[in-house]
Amino acid sequence: MATVIKEPPVPTDAEWAERLDGFVQRAHEASIALRKLDQEAVDRIVWAMTVAGLENAVELAELAMEETHFGVFEDKVLKNYIATEFLYDYLRDKKSVGVIDEDRERALQYVAEPIGVVLALLPITNPTSTTLFKSIVCAKTRNALIMRPSPRAVRCCGRAGELLQEAGEAVGLPPNSLQVIPDPSLEVSQYLFHHPGVDFIWTTGGPKAVAAANAAGKPCLSVGPGNAPVYVHRSADIRMAVMDMLISKTFDASVICPAEQTCVIDEEIYDQVVDEFQRMGARLLTDQQTDALAARSFTDEGKVQLDVLGQSCVNLAGLAGFEVADSDKVLLAPLPADLDALAAHPFIAEKLMPVLGLVRSPSVEHGIRACELVTEHFGLGHTSAVYANDDEVINRFSLAIRTGRILVNAPTAVGALGGVYNSMTPTFSLGCGTWGGSNTTDNVNYRNLLNIKTVSRRQTPPQWFRVPSDTYFNPGSLDSLRQLDASRPMIVTDRWTVARGVAEEVRHYLSAGAVHVYSGVEPEPTEAQIRAGIEQLEQVNADAIIAIGGGSVMDAAKAMRLFHESPQLSIRELSLPFLDARKRIAEFPQIDHKVRLVAIPTTSGTGSEVSPAAVISVGQRKVTLVDYSLVPDMAIVDPNLTLTMPKEITADTGIDALTHALEAAVSIFASPFTDAFCVQAANLIFTALPRAYHDGSDLEARTAMHNAATIAGLAFSNAFVGLNHALAHPVGARFGIAHGRANAIFLPHVLRYNASLPSKFMPAPGYSAYVAPEKYAEIGRILGFGGHTEQDRRERLFTHVDELLAEVEEPRTLADCGVKRQEFEAALPELAKAAFADPSIRTNPRIPMIREVLELLMAGYSQTA
Ligand SMILES: NC(=O)c1ccc[n+]([C@@H]2O[C@H](COP(=O)([O-])OP(=O)(O)OC[C@H]3O[C@@H](n4cnc5c(N)ncnc54)[C@H](O)[C@@H]3O)[C@@H](O)[C@H]2O)c1
Ligand SMILES: [Fe+2]
Repeated sequence: MATVIKEPPVPTDAEWAERLDGFVQRAHEASIALRKLDQEAVDRIVWAMTVAGLENAVELAELAMEETHFGVFEDKVLKNYIATEFLYDYLRDKKSVGVIDEDRERALQYVAEPIGVVLALLPITNPTSTTLFKSIVCAKTRNALIMRPSPRAVRCCGRAGELLQEAGEAVGLPPNSLQVIPDPSLEVSQYLFHHPGVDFIWTTGGPKAVAAANAAGKPCLSVGPGNAPVYVHRSADIRMAVMDMLISKTFDASVICPAEQTCVIDEEIYDQVVDEFQRMGARLLTDQQTDALAARSFTDEGKVQLDVLGQSCVNLAGLAGFEVADSDKVLLAPLPADLDALAAHPFIAEKLMPVLGLVRSPSVEHGIRACELVTEHFGLGHTSAVYANDDEVINRFSLAIRTGRILVNAPTAVGALGGVYNSMTPTFSLGCGTWGGSNTTDNVNYRNLLNIKTVSRRQTPPQWFRVPSDTYFNPGSLDSLRQLDASRPMIVTDRWTVARGVAEEVRHYLSAGAVHVYSGVEPEPTEAQIRAGIEQLEQVNADAIIAIGGGSVMDAAKAMRLFHESPQLSIRELSLPFLDARKRIAEFPQIDHKVRLVAIPTTSGTGSEVSPAAVISVGQRKVTLVDYSLVPDMAIVDPNLTLTMPKEITADTGIDALTHALEAAVSIFASPFTDAFCVQAANLIFTALPRAYHDGSDLEARTAMHNAATIAGLAFSNAFVGLNHALAHPVGARFGIAHGRANAIFLPHVLRYNASLPSKFMPAPGYSAYVAPEKYAEIGRILGFGGHTEQDRRERLFTHVDELLAEVEEPRTLADCGVKRQEFEAALPELAKAAFADPSIRTNPRIPMIREVLELLMAGYSQTA
């Protein structure tokens, strides 16, 4: 709000200041006592205060009339009823002390605390009703309240405060919980605004009061003036609209901030509306009368003349030099339809008297624009209304008009206070949003006067263990392919598998006649290979994919199905980095697959046949897609298919499987379910891998290895992998090193790294103690590697890993793999960044610092553990 505040000098009169300090001190003492009250005591006090307000509503209205000389007595009584009865009805079942709300599912509790000492400024327009309202709200919230009334409403506000304090005190309200300052000068406000003992300012007033309170530099809630426009669309119920506006505009002679100020009426119904207004007792002014009244109502600077406030029609006409009938309820002032002329007219402003501006509107667009224009004259944030029976018009109006309350087919003055024509919260404090200098657009009530603490209990999200629906294993299990119910299956594989005659063998088990084969996949598959596969899928309109090959083939097939079924998705979007898989923004389709996916591994390593992951090469990067929608529908784990694996591939893939088991075992998502699978997988690998490596035809060893790879796959499908994979992915992609081999290089280093004291722990509620070192030791113990101490058992596991790597002749460093030092060093920064961004790192038990990632990468280059 652009109002310039001229701060009056704060008097230095010591006695004066001492007197004000006294108010604050007493309020402070009351606030301490108030904080000790429980809900029951508070509600008893609120009841007693409400009763006092109701019983004295008439007396207080009389006093307000006597003192302010404006408004309508009967309506002032009504306002007092609203401020007590409606408020009580709203507050009666509300908790305001201690735990007021709870969200068990999210383990959150909300605990209410009072603010302390609240300084309230009261308006001249609703003096007693606002006193009653603010007093009861402060009692409900256990705040001590100091009220500074408008200079022209000191006695009635004082009396209202006194009555409520007495009634409350009789049932336990601490003394001085409510105080009304009898000296309402600006200096008092300024002094108290800056008083260290005042915790909160709650202003109701004009733009200057709002701006001054906001400038005080302490928490405050300021609500300012309104200038409510009303748009009457041609679809409106005219009789209802007219009656509503008359009820509302005459309410307390319109000295209430949400009252209707300017009514914008569609051209087609303008005359009808005006006729109805006149039939119901309003008077249409001539242009000359309008101008005379406008001139009399405002000063040349546009300030409202105090003697017109809340006057009857007869009095107003008299002041402006013309005559109207006693029975005239509201004066209708025709205003220009031209928007510039309207903006320049004095009556575009708030008219706190029974004068309603009328604008004839040629279109909905013009009508809404005219209403916006009205709000722009000190009405932003407050209240507006639309009369229409056309939802599109109502929506357009609601989107365009910037007011905190938009009433549809209801009067604004009575409607905005809440509870009469709608279910809004009852209030005498209408938040005007930032547009009006308030920090809320709420119908302000008890919640705005509380400090609400959130008590949030630690939550450990539930975990899961998911496995694909069918897994067939052991030699000969390929036969289960016969159960596949598909009429147009397509085989996805690579040319080497085709060359070994495996694709042909698979065909025998399929009942369908012609089976198409796509054999364009290569190790570390690329997007282009996947796109080419999708084209063929579409050509043959396949209803099942049979992926037979290593991890590369299975991953390619997973991606093919994904992008075939959801062509609108992109790799870029689905592979966005994430911190927590459950909160990530990439959205995978939650669909029933149209195409079945059967995964038949021919290597014993990746576990891709059961896993939710697919690794794809994009340029020199490896991108991991992870989602359970990628899991194949059927896995056939037939070791006969692995007998042809050369030694190197046996070793690489076997170590990949071991890495899966050892990473899943210490992952932050490890669970007793996955632990069981990790241990058994490692157990099988330590025994069977050397045998399968030295004698590829050893079917027993091949069977154990094949099962072990799938078992490890089940573990990491649920617990995921870690830093080892995060390092292997970029290094493998950059230097063309097979996935398992890249894992082998880092495995000894990562084990020791995770076993040492972390410089940074991974925040994970389910991982409440750093158990990685213990878990390695436990695996060593179960596998029977011996050792007396925990450290010993852990070391023995690590030594067994080193020995296994040596046994299967894995190169131990990147240098051994032929990577040139210079090339490696040049690539280091990029590798470290890529490793840090790899999703696998998110489940590692410790967060690696970039510096540590670099150290591990360098260790992988030249050191053996
Ligand atoms: N999806 C997952 O969960 C997951 C997990 C780990 C690794 N991966 C990915 O899997 C890929 C590695 O898969 P991989 O290790 O199975 O290797 P691969 O699929 O790349 O195959 C390597 C080579 O071995 C050949 N081959 C496969 N089976 C054979 C057999 N029985 N006889 C003879 N030759 C055979 C292939 O034709 C290929 O030339 C990498 O891209 C890796 O990132 C995926
Ligand atoms: Fe892997």
